[in-house]
Amino acid sequence: MEEKRAEWTNHISFILATVGSAVGLGNVWRFPYIMGKYGGAVFLFTYLFLIAFICIIPLCVELTLGKISRKDTVTTFNMINPKFKGFGWLCVLTVVLISCFYFVVGGWILQYLWLFLTNNIPENFSQYFPLFASGTTIPVILTILFLVMCAIFPFRGVNKGIEKANNIMMPALAVMLILLAIYSLSLPGAKEGLEFMFKPDFSKFDSTMVLTALGQALFTLSIGMGAILTYGSYMKQDTKILKSSYTLIGFDTTVSLLSGIMIFPIVFSFNVEPTAGPTLIFISLPEMFSKLPFPAVLGSLFFILILFAAITSGISMLETAIASMIENFKISRKKATVLLSLFISVVSIPSVFSFGIMKDFQIFGKTFFDFLDFITSNILLPLNTALICLIAGWFVKSIKKEAFGENILGNIFYFLLKFVIPLIFIGVLITGLIQV
Ligand code: PHE
Repeated sequence: MEEKRAEWTNHISFILATVGSAVGLGNVWRFPYIMGKYGGAVFLFTYLFLIAFICIIPLCVELTLGKISRKDTVTTFNMINPKFKGFGWLCVLTVVLISCFYFVVGGWILQYLWLFLTNNIPENFSQYFPLFASGTTIPVILTILFLVMCAIFPFRGVNKGIEKANNIMMPALAVMLILLAIYSLSLPGAKEGLEFMFKPDFSKFDSTMVLTALGQALFTLSIGMGAILTYGSYMKQDTKILKSSYTLIGFDTTVSLLSGIMIFPIVFSFNVEPTAGPTLIFISLPEMFSKLPFPAVLGSLFFILILFAAITSGISMLETAIASMIENFKISRKKATVLLSLFISVVSIPSVFSFGIMKDFQIFGKTFFDFLDFITSNILLPLNTALICLIAGWFVKSIKKEAFGENILGNIFYFLLKFVIPLIFIGVLITGLIQV
């Protein structure tokens, strides 16, 4: 029952799919609040440097591994050496654990979209949000609804499902984002917002900020869990890796920047603390929307945009696990999608309840939701990235030629891959562990 290996129809579809994976809540939700927390422009410049010179390397490597093997994550590592098969499963586990909290946020987005579409905008979001999130039934149903909205696409297949979704949602997202950013720039807080983003205050530079920026870069580029590897495995063999990687980084960073440009002028127009944290888009921003003209239109556009970003990332998370399940359990795509969705639905429930009835159930002093976020972002992503670089650098002979090319830049990147990048991410890992 061998399914013929799928391939993206053309280069644009490949780029849109990887951008769809990369652009997600990491850009529109996490990036602005982390940047707010770590001092704006200093964080931004550190982040840009790290992403262009450090994270480009694991990104190229993951794409290359997929391109060479033309297989899922688990099989790819098994092909390099059967000893690494378990590591392939660790990557898949990472992406599944991420989806078990990511999809909860997807459910919240659906609720907010509904509120704005139906013009049922609550008076006070700081009261509304905790009340809504602590519910038992509706947040669970919405998490599952969001999961189904993502799962439909991999269920239908790579070309008929995933490719179509990205080809439509990514351009639509770009248009909405540009419109909202232009609107934000017309607000009175625009100048202050832009200064916050682009005028660095170097006294705010510190090592935690650098490590956070590295973690954010991995998360937003979907590196360290086989997601990019899986999408890379569907690429055409004449695709240029380094060029495609920089294109992906360019798009992903542009979306993060535009999200900042959309959010910070609003934040400064209403004197909200830019450091508001994870609740920025669920409390502070919606509250401000309701004070602007046409709140229903503005809020609906904003939450459709975030919904599209979250769905295309959710699809990529599911596909990473589905591709490995199909190949290793020898089951059909449809069966793999259903089994995986059932598993994620069950594990997401304690994640949803972390804001309500299971608030006091703590693992290492964290709620289940925060614990999932913590072990994936702070531990598994840097660990996996270090191991992917070590495995590729030391065990895959053709990696230098295939990933970076045989030239001076290729030599430098290859040296960094074998010796420097793994150490950097092990450093990130140790710091992450100390923070427990
Ligand atoms: N990169 C996505 C984001 O920024 C998250 C993601 C992680 C997507 C893992 C796919 C796989 O939101």
